[in-house]
Amino acid sequence: MEIQLWRSLLDPYALAVKELTLKFEHLRQEHKDQDRYSPIEQVRGRVKSVASILEKMQRKNVTMDRMLDEIEDIAGVRIICQFEEDIDTVADLIRRRSDMRVKSEKDYLRHIKESGYRSYHMIVYYPVETLEGAREIQVEIQIRTMAMNFWATVEHSLQYKYKGDIPPHVTDRLSNAADAIIMLDHEMSEVRSEIMDAQVSSQMQMNLVQEILNTIENLYHLTNQREVAKIQDEFFRIFRLKDLDRLTRFQRELDIIAEGYRAQEVNFNDAG
Ligand code: GTP
Ligand code: MG
Repeated sequence: MEIQLWRSLLDPYALAVKELTLKFEHLRQEHKDQDRYSPIEQVRGRVKSVASILEKMQRKNVTMDRMLDEIEDIAGVRIICQFEEDIDTVADLIRRRSDMRVKSEKDYLRHIKESGYRSYHMIVYYPVETLEGAREIQVEIQIRTMAMNFWATVEHSLQYKYKGDIPPHVTDRLSNAADAIIMLDHEMSEVRSEIMDAQVSSQMQMNLVQEILNTIENLYHLTNQREVAKIQDEFFRIFRLKDLDRLTRFQRELDIIAEGYRAQEVNFNDAG
């Protein structure tokens, strides 16, 4: 039998997981930077361990030469959302991307598994560049809410503990817990728009404060320190009011002041 060099075999998969994790995290950051609600709450990735690959090959009767084709989850990315509604949004985002191609989808939200497992799965083809050239590899993307993830994590641990043969009294508990999770997700959806508003406001405030402090720092280099100290005091005073509108107005005023100083500086420079 040919000797398997697992490390080099799995290396492109590690690259894909790294790239995709980075890309989805960036997507989350892009939403935040633009004061928009992010359907992505958290991103995780992993390469399947050799032990799990071997176990799955045995379970599914897959030979070594079919392994890379038939074991679709060697590279795995998990996207955690806050609300069920976000799952469709994320799936759509993935379908529209030009850097990956969807091979198949499994909807365990509308078709809950026997175990109680819920999640949205997509297998995508994703190209990576290696020393040997371009390779298109398969990645399993699991999209689920935090609540679904909690349940799946616990259930997975129990599967492991009982070696896949969970006793009925535990299965019953898990099944009850799965129902409770469905209720929890629905309850959260009911207050979704309120939570979204609150999160967007808090993000807006964070971005605004960052902008104001940047402007103050720029002013520090443009004008005398007494002036800047006064502006900073005024900022602290307004910040304490916890009034987003007031903060927005302050930022606008500050922008005008900074604009004025910059114009002066340009004149000065032009004057030679
Ligand atoms: P395997 O379940 O890994 O043999 O793959 P499959 O080809 O049957 O695909 P499926 O979509 O059923 O499962 C893919 C992955 O989803 C699994 O590797 C798990 O991570 C997760 N998953 C599926 N079913 C369950 C479940 O009942 N409980 C938990 N905790 N996770 C599950
Ligand atoms: Mg399965």
